[in-house]
Amino acid sequence: MECRIFDNYNDLSDAAAELILGIVERKPEAVLCFATGNSPVGTYKALAGMAKERGTDFSQCFCFGLDEWLGVPPEKSGSCHYLLFDQVFRPLGIKEEQTHLFNGMTTDVTTECRIMNGEIEHVGGIDCMLVGIGLNGHIGFNEPGVDMESGAHEQELHESTLASGQLYFNEPTAIAKGITLGMGQVMNARTLLILANGKSKAEIIHKACEGPVTNDVPASYMQKHRHAVLMIDKEAAAALSK
Ligand code: GLP
Repeated sequence: MECRIFDNYNDLSDAAAELILGIVERKPEAVLCFATGNSPVGTYKALAGMAKERGTDFSQCFCFGLDEWLGVPPEKSGSCHYLLFDQVFRPLGIKEEQTHLFNGMTTDVTTECRIMNGEIEHVGGIDCMLVGIGLNGHIGFNEPGVDMESGAHEQELHESTLASGQLYFNEPTAIAKGITLGMGQVMNARTLLILANGKSKAEIIHKACEGPVTNDVPASYMQKHRHAVLMIDKEAAAALSK
């Protein structure tokens, strides 16, 4: 695992955008996967600006969404679907047919997951997956205790995930479960880009990077990933000893 520490969130966001652009410039038909949340917002802004400036072409890429709130419709402003189109796909000119996202309104989660797993296999796996880290060490909605070889699955969400999740919505929203790519898919991504910023993430970054590799802290598995790049700011790095 490569760990890069930046002076501030802007530098971190620019570097993350640069890494993604580099992948797409080398492989225009790259398969990408994006998370929502606060951590990547700056990266998405930088990505749109830099792609425009450099004329990077995303028209041959294929993109997956990492996760979604079950029971939340795609058009609702805090849904992962809404945010990915708003922050990533539209600014980069990525069309709907170049994307595959979970449908939070599905009434058949098993089929929804089977189709997602099949799509990822069909396109030959994910070249670059961008993820954030939850306060309890989750990645996507892979909460502590998750099967580390899992594919797409439904997940009961922890208290802390539900509390921070509520903040993405502009009105109180009933959320209890998520649907997510599994840790098997996170571990199989050819590049795993993990972002964290701010002092609230310092303790979990310490555990994930310097603690034991355990499914109690799903993010700790990045230590074993064949190509994980962790980008954090100074505040999130504050509890690291090395
Ligand atoms: C959320 C999402 C993840 C996100 C993570 C961190 O619950 N399911 O996809 O990466 O938690 O969010 P943030 O970047 O806002 O801290």
